[in-house]
Amino acid sequence: MLLTPEPLLFELSSSGRTAFSLPELDVPTTALPLEMVREDVNLPEVSELDLVRHYLHLSQKNFSIDTHFYPLGSCTMKYNPKVHETAAALAGFTRCHPLLPDEMAQGNLALMYQLQEYLKEIVGLAAVSLQPAAGAHGEFAGVLMMRAYHLARGDHRRTKMLIPNSAHGTNPASVAMSGLESVEIPSDERGNVDLTALKRHCDETVVGLMLTNPNTLGLFEEHLEEVIAAVHQCGGLMYGDGANLNALLGIARPGDLGFDVMHFNLHKTFTTPHGGGGPGSGPVGVSEQLLPFLPGPIVGITNYELRITKSESVIRNSQFVIERESYALTMPEKSIGRLKTFHGNFGMMVRAYTYIAMLGEVGLREVSFNAVLNANYLKARLEKIYPVKYSRACMHEFVAMGDIADGIHTMDIAKRLIDYGIHPPTVYFPLIVHEALMIEPTETESKETLDHFVETMLKIAVEAQEQPDLLHQSPHTTPIGRLDEVGAARKPVLCYKS
Ligand SMILES: Cc1ncc(COP(=O)(O)O)c(C=O)c1O
Repeated sequence: MLLTPEPLLFELSSSGRTAFSLPELDVPTTALPLEMVREDVNLPEVSELDLVRHYLHLSQKNFSIDTHFYPLGSCTMKYNPKVHETAAALAGFTRCHPLLPDEMAQGNLALMYQLQEYLKEIVGLAAVSLQPAAGAHGEFAGVLMMRAYHLARGDHRRTKMLIPNSAHGTNPASVAMSGLESVEIPSDERGNVDLTALKRHCDETVVGLMLTNPNTLGLFEEHLEEVIAAVHQCGGLMYGDGANLNALLGIARPGDLGFDVMHFNLHKTFTTPHGGGGPGSGPVGVSEQLLPFLPGPIVGITNYELRITKSESVIRNSQFVIERESYALTMPEKSIGRLKTFHGNFGMMVRAYTYIAMLGEVGLREVSFNAVLNANYLKARLEKIYPVKYSRACMHEFVAMGDIADGIHTMDIAKRLIDYGIHPPTVYFPLIVHEALMIEPTETESKETLDHFVETMLKIAVEAQEQPDLLHQSPHTTPIGRLDEVGAARKPVLCYKS
């Protein structure tokens, strides 16, 4: 792993080299406005070959699902089938200008419509908007819709959003961005929402509850019916954080369970690339009562009649009418508005549509069965060495603890895994588990890969006892060892010459 030979030199620039050649100028030259001319930029001058090698070497230093096992909890880093790329690259999709009138983009609108229908069916909700560009963006849309719903009923008292302490940080962030206040609800000793604490907070000021189910501990909420009843009884709405939908496909539908609104992460459950922070896709689904508030435009369907007159008709002396379906972008009546330019991240929609159409109902259910099976297999093999705080049957992921020897922390285990060619699990999240190691194998990994991961984790546990410094100083195989992660985030050096 990470065996890319280092380039011989770091500094490749040599004055006068270029990586491009332009055709001879066939228009008159004009001087650039002076303010656009900068002498101080000092960009590297390299040949095309040097440039290609530079970027290829960088890409080979990366971890990716196509090269390494990637059990990054909560992120569902499953394999993205390559057929998606073929579909997304079809000229009818890539060459369709987003400003084309609806009647000239019927095929693309049909795909969006069908994807809305698939997603509705998968989660049992009344309508879906494909607008948001990520899970967190979907949360923001959901919270705005919940707020708009209460305000439209003339209920201005509701300003509090209840959020379990196992939730992802984006939940309270979305609430804050929507101008509401979040109230943290503790978890009980089995990792469920603490019902007593929840009921204490349920009153006429509650907008709703944001629940991730299965939660970020990988556990199915055992008192779901009571939780939902308590929120609904006080007039609140149930928000479902759909980041963990990979555990439920074809098994349980959030809409049937009582959720009013939820987001999907197409880049997790439906195998579209995660990208480096994007482009993702986080559609939102809603029950009937929230439908008018959906972000738009969404794709609707209308029937139009195609009348064929006598002269055009192949059947002489008759006139016949063909009914056709037509797709049109529409704005829901009380929409919270547009959240994304044009139609959302359309390329992601093509990939997710391809995935769902390819697997069908039976295939999707198998995805979740296998995701849950794989996680439970790893948990069963690892938990004697890496304790699991809430140890009951898990769903598609579980959270172990990494402080397995004196002076050894989760970060040491995570960094050592890199030396063995395995991407570390999610670390130190959720915050309610001390030294958390959140492991999500996904359904696409073979038993051999899972066994290799277990054996590596067990080998690292032995190293932790016998050679703790080997772990403290890891990773050893990467160009740079331990990073100052806070410094890198707070004081990034974005220029190739500092
Ligand atoms: C439980 C949960 N909710 C929400 C999100 C936010 O999703 P996104 O990264 O697509 O914005 C994540 C992301 O990891 C998550 O794990």
